[in-house]
Amino acid sequence: MKIDILTIFPEMFDGFLNTSIIKRAIEKKLVEINIVNFRDFTLDPHGKVDDTPYGGGRGMVLMVQPIYDAVMSLKKDNTKVILLTPDGEPYNQKKAYELKKYEHLIIICGHYEGFDDRIRSIVDIELSIGDYVLTGGEIASLVIIDSVTRLLNDAIRKESWEDDSFSNGLLEYPQYKRTLSYLGKEVHFVLTNGTTKDIREFR
Ligand code: 6GU
Repeated sequence: MKIDILTIFPEMFDGFLNTSIIKRAIEKKLVEINIVNFRDFTLDPHGKVDDTPYGGGRGMVLMVQPIYDAVMSLKKDNTKVILLTPDGEPYNQKKAYELKKYEHLIIICGHYEGFDDRIRSIVDIELSIGDYVLTGGEIASLVIIDSVTRLLNDAIRKESWEDDSFSNGLLEYPQYKRTLSYLGKEVHFVLTNGTTKDIREFR
């Protein structure tokens, strides 16, 4: 899978992409993540990507031209174009499974007070990661990259995600590692004394 992230803050991605499971998934070529600064696409002589909105009002809005041109230069036949916005459809585990099926995602990170509404006409889906407002879509894009990448075959063992809390409608069971008692709290009795069947039922 290839994921293009359109952002004006590429530096926000460095640490995340160079760490742990995502780093390994990139090294194993399960996923290719391409951070695109859409400022590079602006035709504005001063390199601007935002402007004051028509009709007045507070703040700046992202202009459609740089984002449109960036999307068009990257888009292929089988690309899913995603706009991250607090008023998008709620993102959840089911949507992570849907996105996992695509060979190519373009994820647009909104910013400032908003974006020129015409950006909506070039996207396939608008997503939000929850009912609160972030300063931009970058953190939301990391949430999507993380949750989709770990589902790609071999990123982690399949058994690890098959019984994830949200995959099967059940919440995950309590787990414990070495140390039978910690701060007066014991490992659940069934895990140390139950049969395999007892443990399966407990879980
Ligand atoms: Cl996708 N973007 C922004 N700016 N805020 C959000 C969000 C996205 N999802 C929840 N809050």
